[in-house]
Amino acid sequence: IAKNIDLKTEIRRMCQEKKAIIMAHYYTQGAIQEVADFVGDSLALAQKAATTDADIIVMCGVHFMGETNKILCPDKKVLTPDLNASCSLAESCPTDAFKAFVEAHPNHTVVSYVNTTAATKALTDVVVTSSNAQQIVESFPKDTPIIFGPDRNLGGYINRITGRKMLLWDGACHVHDRFSVDKIMTLKAEHPHAKVLAHPECKAEVLDIADKVGSTSALLKYCITNEAQEFIVVTESGILHEMQKGAPHKTFIPAPPDSDACACNECEHMKLITMEKLYNCLKYEYPEIEVDEAIAAQAVKPIERMLAISK
Ligand code: 13P
Ligand code: SF4
Repeated sequence: IAKNIDLKTEIRRMCQEKKAIIMAHYYTQGAIQEVADFVGDSLALAQKAATTDADIIVMCGVHFMGETNKILCPDKKVLTPDLNASCSLAESCPTDAFKAFVEAHPNHTVVSYVNTTAATKALTDVVVTSSNAQQIVESFPKDTPIIFGPDRNLGGYINRITGRKMLLWDGACHVHDRFSVDKIMTLKAEHPHAKVLAHPECKAEVLDIADKVGSTSALLKYCITNEAQEFIVVTESGILHEMQKGAPHKTFIPAPPDSDACACNECEHMKLITMEKLYNCLKYEYPEIEVDEAIAAQAVKPIERMLAISK
């Protein structure tokens, strides 16, 4: 890339020329969120993909998000700036092992978090995101036997708030699973008026001390509308960009993870998406997300079921 190039201007120009839309998750770098046409949580990104009339979708997020877009829009070109942007939660649920788990529990409804591969979604009855998991689980009669995968923390949280006894797959997100109650309590002592905001992928003991548990968009809405001026944010720190933008005079304190050895509350997969890679991706229309047709034909059903319930 030539040194004097203004990446943001060039990226926007190519979007117009190619009738492309850039979609970004809240965990991506601030510059990516600023250049995107649409920034959202996992549910909003899937809803947007289902309705866009763009010819090309550039998904700035992790691989399963691009796959979801491709499954919903098989005739569109779906690009992503770095195919290596995977997700530890999706990886904690290998398809073969999950298939064996499902087969070992016949007559169960299979509810899968959107953070799964297309192949795992193909084994699923209905997909959920952290925005609609409670609503979708509660749409089934109370005695329905349910398998919930792959996030044990989100599944455990939904079990607690709904009184269900869903069977949980033992997966987790490496970023959310490592937040520490002790460190949050230390921050709380230093900022006694701060509200604690936590994503439901965090461990139960972290969720127990939170003032608000919710998806990225729910946490965002809460901090903008709540009268508190300080917030301790227990999720991936990329969300602070949009929080600070929505409430410029409020203070947002990113919660530290458990170990000092890992000083980072960032998802390294999301951070693989850079402006340079986005520029090249649009310019060369590469790399492209591909999903096997037979898998996509199965995986589209539970995704569409989710979208129909969350309208
Ligand atoms: P949201 O659905 O809240 O955007 O979360 C996605 C995600 O990857 C959380 O780690
Ligand atoms: Fe996956 Fe965790 Fe990164 Fe979200 S934060 S994309 S769940 S690894």
